[in-house]
Amino acid sequence: MTDFLKTAIEAAVAAGEVLRRKFPETREVASKGPRDIVTDADLAAQRVILDLIAQRFPDHAILSEEGRHDIDLAAPGFTWVIDPLDGTSNYAHRFPYFSVSVGLAEKGEVVVGVVHDPLGRQTYYAEKGQGAFVRSETEAPERLRVSDLADLAQALVGFDLPRDPAAREKVVAATARASAATRTMRSIGSAALGLVQVAAGGLDGYYHLTLLPWDVAGGALLIQEAGGQLSSPSGGPWRLDGTGVLTSNGHLHSALVKTLRLD
Ligand code: IPD
Ligand code: CA
Ligand code: CA
Repeated sequence: MTDFLKTAIEAAVAAGEVLRRKFPETREVASKGPRDIVTDADLAAQRVILDLIAQRFPDHAILSEEGRHDIDLAAPGFTWVIDPLDGTSNYAHRFPYFSVSVGLAEKGEVVVGVVHDPLGRQTYYAEKGQGAFVRSETEAPERLRVSDLADLAQALVGFDLPRDPAAREKVVAATARASAATRTMRSIGSAALGLVQVAAGGLDGYYHLTLLPWDVAGGALLIQEAGGQLSSPSGGPWRLDGTGVLTSNGHLHSALVKTLRLD
């Protein structure tokens, strides 16, 4: 395990402890825009991650949801891409599904990805070319693999809704088509946990039309290293600095592109 991955795991777990401790407490919620909130817990978790990375890798850039956004992911060098709390609406409502997502990109390509589930006490991690794994506090790491299902009619497919009303309408229409073509659908509330479940085989696919780099940087590499596929929502090449993603176990990818018709 490289120092990059060790730091990513340490940062995600430390932020997760902050989130877990604060979960039952009263929280301060501020609005960032329509359907977009931030809590004191997002900021406290972010502080822990940024401090650790800045101390270990002072030359690296850090793009973080509640921090700096003026960072070119294609620029030379390393950029950490952080979502200190993915699933803020779930967290604010005390719906117990949320995560911490930490990615490290080199010139726009993710080389380390970590998603931590603080309540499930599971850490999902991958390094480029080294496979994807999950570990708990007590058990040995286990390798992650996507499902091998090839029949869309038997698939369990995850999605989440965009905030923007027009994008939301498109996703609802696409999801109506997908719900007729699959076994059933799941909305998660933390995109990073949706991506994790594709990597772990719990979901056969997951899509979102309007994600940002910090939502996907941790989970994207998990899916690639677990043998799955990522594309843009319409089936084109996936880019970390793009918006939205369609993921699957690979076998179902073209069937999902044709069914969803998202662009
Ligand atoms: C959100 C979650 C949610 C998705 C939103 C994201 P946040 O992230 O991943 O599932 O539907 O589009 O913005 O705001 O909780 O970090
Ligand atoms: Ca997020
Ligand atoms: Ca967030």
